[in-house]
Amino acid sequence: MSLKNKKILLGVTGGISIYKVCDLVSRLIKKGAILEIIMTEAATKLVSPLVFETMGRCKVYTDMFHEGHHEEVEHIELPKRADAFLIAPASGNTMAKIAHGIADNLLTSAALAYDRDIIFAVAMNTNMLNNLSTQDNIKILKDRKHKFIESNVGILACNTIGDGRLAEPVEIVEYMEDYFTKKDLIGKKILVTAGPTRERIDPVRYLSNDSSGKMGYSIAKAAKARGASVTLITGPVKLDKPNGIDIEEIESTEDMFNAVGKYFDNTDALIMAAAPSDYRARNINSNKIKKEDTDKFEIDFIENKDIVKYFGNNKNKQIVIGFAAETTNLIDNAKSKLKRKNLDYIVANDVTKKGAGFNVDTNIVSVISKDEIVDYPIMDKTEIADKILDLLVD
Ligand SMILES: Cc1cc2nc3c(=O)[nH]c(=O)nc-3n(C[C@H](O)[C@H](O)[C@H](O)COP(=O)(O)O)c2cc1C
Repeated sequence: MSLKNKKILLGVTGGISIYKVCDLVSRLIKKGAILEIIMTEAATKLVSPLVFETMGRCKVYTDMFHEGHHEEVEHIELPKRADAFLIAPASGNTMAKIAHGIADNLLTSAALAYDRDIIFAVAMNTNMLNNLSTQDNIKILKDRKHKFIESNVGILACNTIGDGRLAEPVEIVEYMEDYFTKKDLIGKKILVTAGPTRERIDPVRYLSNDSSGKMGYSIAKAAKARGASVTLITGPVKLDKPNGIDIEEIESTEDMFNAVGKYFDNTDALIMAAAPSDYRARNINSNKIKKEDTDKFEIDFIENKDIVKYFGNNKNKQIVIGFAAETTNLIDNAKSKLKRKNLDYIVANDVTKKGAGFNVDTNIVSVISKDEIVDYPIMDKTEIADKILDLLVD
């Protein structure tokens, strides 16, 4: 799912949405992609190549017949060394030329020399898009297995509303991540839990914890991207709901236990990245507890069901992976949890370490099984998600 060190040849044509491509370039670089950029002459009239050179930290090629050194034949070598060839925005003109094998500039010549599928992020005025010529050209390109990041409907630069808006940079980045993702979890059913639970005390108060849900959501998204069919059982979090994933929103540990129970038999792997509360109030006040009603406020807590222990000890075919967020004796505590709860793996992290634990985008984990301990350096939670999912690949 990572774009790290992926070499992307980016073709930029003369569409007004080129301004969004400046943002796209910045996002691709932040994700670790290595860019080479070809701009058409029309593109250079809208935005200076210097902008792309600076944002893309790379050389921008604009001309096949430029003066100066020709150490390599650029329209042949640029596509040859690319891991992917993306054209954004893809103008009607450039798509027409590529569909018909016309190679009259560096971009279209590179396209003719590219022997794999090109990705077109289409953008143009609605009438230009709906024109039968454009539609025929898109069909020709699709029939040849080229890929399309379809345009969105919205307000266009020509002040009309319709289809033809370039997909948002974030959508294009997601598409590129998906493009590079190996689909090695096709056919697997994966159940993921995420976030905290809330244990009510009265109608307006609850006991909870700092879990942000980021780890579980990252795992669910990565599993879906790798082809798994994913169900995410989530406590209350402030994260966007991922597309293409079945989601059950729950509140308490009891709710989470019941939701896991509903899917468990039909699951290949349960990944318990949630932080369910171990205790709940014995009695939930039906009305808000008032300061005036008591001079001493005490809550009697009782233990919740241990979800991961229950399902670890009731598994048949499932791989069960738990998490151990510890503040002391990380490895010893995690090993004992692995055994007690009959888990296949436990992902242990010391939440006191900088860059680890709740509410940050990174974590420092050790993955422990009964045979070995694998320590990882600080990594983005999305990268950790992939390391965890690698455990499920046959
Ligand atoms: C301000 C402006 C905005 C344009 N926006 C688009 C566009 O969004 N999509 C498109 O296909 N053409 C657009 N065009 C027309 C193209 O620039 C024109 O067809 C050009 O020949 C494309 O050349 P290229 O494909 O080599 O970049 C625009 C032209 C201008 C002047």
